[in-house]
This record gives sequence, structure tokens and C-alpha cells, in this order.
Amino acid sequence: MKIKTADFVISNSDVAKCPKERLPEYAFIGRSNVGKSSLINMLTGQNKLAKTSGRPGKTQLINHFKINNSWFLVDLPGYGYAKVSKSIKRTFQSFIKNYFIQREQLICTFVLIDCRHEPQKIDLEFMEFLGKSEIPFCVVFTKSDKLKLSELNRNIQIYTKKMTSTLWETMPQYFITSATSSNGKEELLTYINNVNQQLTENL
Ligand code: GTP
Ligand code: MG
Repeated sequence: MKIKTADFVISNSDVAKCPKERLPEYAFIGRSNVGKSSLINMLTGQNKLAKTSGRPGKTQLINHFKINNSWFLVDLPGYGYAKVSKSIKRTFQSFIKNYFIQREQLICTFVLIDCRHEPQKIDLEFMEFLGKSEIPFCVVFTKSDKLKLSELNRNIQIYTKKMTSTLWETMPQYFITSATSSNGKEELLTYINNVNQQLTENL
């Protein structure tokens, strides 16, 4: 799929104020600094669409980007960033959870995991929350440019083992991406395109 247009629409901390249009949307979530905003820029081919930073805690609101005038990509604040105050963390946590629970247009969530890290409790717990809330999601292993292929495969194997030894029967569908090399771009966009097509066929 080609992304012809990608436009910032609105930022807010209140799911009730998100766009009212009944267009399918795809959200990106994960720990602060995992590369959510960078991935949105990579997918859309617009370096400055979503704000990124080397310092965790950059994205602080729910950001809607309209793609090809027909669907949304949603950039969210990260979870698990230790340096923000507890009260900010609680506010983040509650509006993020509200977004996931209340947003009817949400079709699929991409849970981003830094491919260099071992499975972390906070990510596993977030996926458990999605699973229990019956919110469809895929996993995205980010920053693949940082590892050799053998290390990457090993880490994915470890992740798969961890997930299937706990709550999950099988490893959810996953993608491997790099915002630097654009690895995974076609795969992710093709996946979204296929889901969008299924949705129109089922209307
Ligand atoms: P918050 O908004 O703070 O939650 O972070 P985020 O998940 O949106 O991360 P962001 O996209 O701002 O990226 C964080 C840092 O990681 C930046 O310095 C990016 O340049 C870097 N980064 C993101 N993706 C990649 C990648 O695929 N490869 C490499 N090498 N660096 C990346
Ligand atoms: Mg961000």
C-alpha cells in the first residue's frame, strides 16, 4: 500500500474528544522510547509528522493522524517511564486505558517491544490487559537495526517462549521493524491494508 497523504488531525487526553468519524484506526503503544512515534514517521515517510526524542516521555497525548483520507494511525504516550511523577503516570495510565476500552473505531493495536530487551513485566501485563479486554493486537519488535540477525532471532525465540509459557497459546502475529532502515515497512502496511479491505468487504 502506498501512503499518499498523512495529516495530523488532533491531540488530546480525552478519548471523548477524539475524531468522531467512523474510520478504522490503528494504535501504537509500548514503553517510552521504544520507537512508537519514529515508526509512524517511517510508515508515512514523513520525518516530522510525529514528534520523536532521544529522551523518553516525548509523546504525552493521544495523537490522530489521518492516512489517505480513509483511516487513522494513532500515536500514544509510552507507559513505564520512571522519571515522570507518580501523578502524571496515573493520569497517563488512566487516559490510555480509557482510550483502549472506549474507542470503538480501534481495529488493531501494535504493541511495540524493543528487540534488544528481554521480556518485561510491564509489556506482558499490558498485553494481558488487551487480551482480557478482547482488543486485537500484534507485536512489533522495534530497532532491529541494533542487532545482528542471529541475536534478533534468538530474542524473538525467547519472547515467544515466554508468552507461550504464560497466558498465550501461540505467539501473536508479530512484525520486525527498524525506523532507521525501514525494515518491516511493507509488511506492516500490507497487513493494515488487508485488514482495511476486509472491513470494507464486511460492511
Ligand atoms: P515516547 O513518545 O517518549 O513514549 O517515545 P517513542 O516510543 O515515541 O519513541 P521515539 O519514536 O521518540 O524514539 C525514541 C528514540 O529511539 C529516538 O532517539 C529515536 O531516534 C530512536 N529510535 C526509534 N526507532 C528506532 C529504530 O528503529 N532504530 C534506531 N536505531 N533508533 C530508533
Ligand atoms: Mg512518542
